[in-house]
Amino acid sequence: MKYNPFNPNSVVSTNLFAGRKDYVLKILRKLEQVKNGMPASFFLYGERGIGKTALAKLIMHIAEAKDPVLENLNFLTSYYSVDKGQNISAVLQASLNELTDRVSPNILSALGERLGYLLKNGKFTIGAFSVDMRSTEEKNIVVRDQLISILSNLIEAIKKEDEDKKRDSVLIVIDEMQNISDVTKCAQLLRGIVTTLDVKSLGNIGFLLMGYESAVKDFFDGDPSARRQFDPIELGVMPVDEAKEVLTKGFKEAEVLWDQAALDSNILATGGYPHSIQLLGHNLLEVDGDNQIDGFDWDKAIHRTAAELQSKDFSGMYNFHGKTSAIERILDVLAVAWQPLSKQEIMKYAEIKNVYQYLPELKKRGSIKIDADTGNLFLHSRLFGIAILLKIMDKVKKENYLSLLIEEKVLNGKNA
Ligand SMILES: Nc1ncnc2c1ncn2[C@@H]1O[C@H](COP(=O)(O)OP(=O)(O)O)[C@@H](O)[C@H]1O
Ligand SMILES: [Mg+2]
Repeated sequence: MKYNPFNPNSVVSTNLFAGRKDYVLKILRKLEQVKNGMPASFFLYGERGIGKTALAKLIMHIAEAKDPVLENLNFLTSYYSVDKGQNISAVLQASLNELTDRVSPNILSALGERLGYLLKNGKFTIGAFSVDMRSTEEKNIVVRDQLISILSNLIEAIKKEDEDKKRDSVLIVIDEMQNISDVTKCAQLLRGIVTTLDVKSLGNIGFLLMGYESAVKDFFDGDPSARRQFDPIELGVMPVDEAKEVLTKGFKEAEVLWDQAALDSNILATGGYPHSIQLLGHNLLEVDGDNQIDGFDWDKAIHRTAAELQSKDFSGMYNFHGKTSAIERILDVLAVAWQPLSKQEIMKYAEIKNVYQYLPELKKRGSIKIDADTGNLFLHSRLFGIAILLKIMDKVKKENYLSLLIEEKVLNGKNA
């Protein structure tokens, strides 16, 4: 079997990372400031599968690289992915321990002397309160001060190391922020830490937080002033050229040839979602039999990918196993029409009275998008449309499901 470099279930390796240039440059410019003592932090947000973790992995790689071409960044970095229900002090404690795992024993013992009970056997313990401990507010302040104390000592120490081991700054990456139990508390806590370090001339610190849009909202609701320290960055779908680049990098790595016209005409199916692109790339190499990716491979792979996504990315966007409700009927109409439709058209073909009441839920699920200019509705991606068509095809044929729509929009549209 040939080597398949596409893997939708793991984080892409740096050499196969494609596109996202503007995002990378924007973040790197800020990290360059961090290197000079001006703190900068980010909240990178977007849907599942949009490429947040992959982008963070690349940023961390560059931040550690000491590469003259890449701003000579020389950060100490940590990555932590939050589990459901964890609180921010547990997460920060884990991040700090991740950082200290990467510093020299000299630094660790020096820190141990200065930090006393906060650092035992090379591990930090934050927020260990005595039993008579006071109110929540007081506890929050204790936690913040402990974190400030640890980070100032750590930053000071890494900057003072011998030339070959020296680091300029710290980058703390926290993924899956929507899982944090006390997300509304985070902004104020982190802002307090960053500001204090800045005042102490130890502002060589950046946080890169990541999560869903709901998390970024809760985060800033907790402390709107944190917008000055944290840059919200929305990660969107990949433009066509970048989506193609993901595939061509993988094709080259696998040493297969490809039909460029087939790639050009089929790439749109993915809607620019990196996870879908990886899965599709994986399936293209699986179905191919002659090391030449052609139109037939595309047809088979798209079909297979759409079917697989029914139980993955699309499972929360359409009920593939239950009864057809109004929401599913709206999506069926959009899938069969294979073109954006106005709200009036949807009400007519889906035979529902008020489409407006379903829009918030459809948008929340990520099933539809709305054209800003025309107000027309369209599906998340063509792959999603295909996944729906695979599900309803029999009904369309046997029961003449949505026959009016097919007659008026699909057949007439084709003849025109
Ligand atoms: N820029 C990229 N180039 C190539 N593959 C990517 C890129 N961004 C994401 N991917 C791949 O797409 C999939 C989903 O990305 P991921 O970073 O896990 O998304 P998120 O963290 O937003 O849920 C992963 O397999 C990842 O390796
Ligand atoms: Mg992720």
